[in-house]
Amino acid sequence: MSIDPQASTVWWANRITDLPFDFSQEHETPENLAILKDTGARVHVIANQKGGVGKTTTTLNIAAVVADVLQESAELLHVFIDTPGSLQDENLLLEALKYAHDVIVPMPPEGLAFDPTARTISKVIEPSGLPYTVVINNWDPRDGAADLNETIAYIEAQGWPRAKTVIRRYKVHTRASVEGKVVTQYQKNRASFEAREDFYRLALEFGFGGR
Ligand SMILES: Nc1ncnc2c1ncn2[C@@H]1O[C@H](COP(=O)(O)OP(=O)(O)OP(=O)(O)O)[C@@H](O)[C@H]1O
Ligand SMILES: [Mg+2]
Repeated sequence: MSIDPQASTVWWANRITDLPFDFSQEHETPENLAILKDTGARVHVIANQKGGVGKTTTTLNIAAVVADVLQESAELLHVFIDTPGSLQDENLLLEALKYAHDVIVPMPPEGLAFDPTARTISKVIEPSGLPYTVVINNWDPRDGAADLNETIAYIEAQGWPRAKTVIRRYKVHTRASVEGKVVTQYQKNRASFEAREDFYRLALEFGFGGR
């Protein structure tokens, strides 16, 4: 699900029929989120008010791997809500948090992302009282571990809960957002398997393979 107004202008909103899970775009009627309360599903909000950190990438791909594992399930078990990467749309994020069970905060391993992420966490997520986990996304192993370790140290100094899984940077992800594909639809080759593995690991770490 997405409540990002910008999302209606990007590829995947127009390709929703191809996605391996149910998808809805609700930025115009965020009050529709209230029905989630009756479904019994676990609701996970993907949030960071810094733009371009990988919220949409994380939302679509974690939904894809969870749907892949739980395909036999008739019940709606997990809902992932993509949210806007801007301060102007904070009301939409706050609305989503009302129905959430937890929050996933993607963050790239770069200093420029530190302060905006800290703002989102301290001003919006922590006041909600919801449990949250920061996930480092878009780390390129070829750059070495310095930026990664610096980011981990920063997260630990802040006292934020952090996923052990790090989502690596792969060109297939960048390309996929143009082609309208999610990880479970990538071509079968080495890079795609590696790229996909990160999202399976993340889902496993979060315990999303069941209820
Ligand atoms: N792990 C990754 N590997 C390669 N490319 C990535 C990765 N994560 C994100 N990207 C690319 O970075 C760009 C921004 O990612 P994405 O759209 O998911 O961020 P966002 O937080 O949803 O942005 P916005 O705040 O604008 O909604 C996209 O082109 C996406 O394909
Ligand atoms: Mg987005």
